[in-house]
Amino acid sequence: MLEELKEASEYIIKKIKEEDPLILELEEFARIHNVPIVTKEVAKYLEFMIKTHNVKNVLEVGTAIGYSGILMARLIEKNGGVLTTIEIDEERFNQAKENFAKAGLNNVKMILGDATCEIEKLDDNFDFIFIDASKGQYKKFFEDSYKMLNDRGIVFIDNIMFRGYLYKEYPKRFKTIVRKLDEFIDYLYENYDFTLLDFGDGVGLVYKTK
Ligand SMILES: C[S@@+](CC[C@H](N)C(=O)[O-])C[C@H]1O[C@@H](n2cnc3c(N)ncnc32)[C@H](O)[C@@H]1O
Repeated sequence: MLEELKEASEYIIKKIKEEDPLILELEEFARIHNVPIVTKEVAKYLEFMIKTHNVKNVLEVGTAIGYSGILMARLIEKNGGVLTTIEIDEERFNQAKENFAKAGLNNVKMILGDATCEIEKLDDNFDFIFIDASKGQYKKFFEDSYKMLNDRGIVFIDNIMFRGYLYKEYPKRFKTIVRKLDEFIDYLYENYDFTLLDFGDGVGLVYKTK
């Protein structure tokens, strides 16, 4: 979450009353085990985008334990849609598999592997792409997947402003990631229908037009 907007975000998060036991269980699991999952207000926005854009097939880069995957797969199930989701970490992949089963979802195609190679192997079309994995590879994930995005499709990029480090002091070890994300934002503004939202940890949206 961007520190500057912490109070506003906390206010929004408090307003969201979650009652789904599985979602609550996953949020608790993620908190205890330090698994990074999409923040609550961003999750709501993600769902909102999927509901309002007639989305059928979704590609997710970065499954973790299946939290955002469950939210998306539930929504697209009604349209006969499939979620394809890629995770590099085997333990998380297995946890996500269990969680998708607990959610009773049969419309999830899970891929265990590095998305820097796995996306290229896909031969699918998507209405919506959710990028939420290693930030240093965002441009590659974007370029590899954008080719498979249908017209009027959306790419939703989470954490694109990386804790605000793109515009304020940051620990030296993040120098390369910060530079890459900053250049990626310029590249998106220059070449695509792109907008940058300063909420959550920064959300980037790309809309595909013919
Ligand atoms: C922020 S978490 C994803 C959270 C998930 N989308 C959610 O909100 O529930 C990022 C995940 O991406 C995975 N990841 C990182 N680099 C990856 C890569 N190159 N290919 C596939 N997965 C990757 C990490 O192991 C981690 O589980």
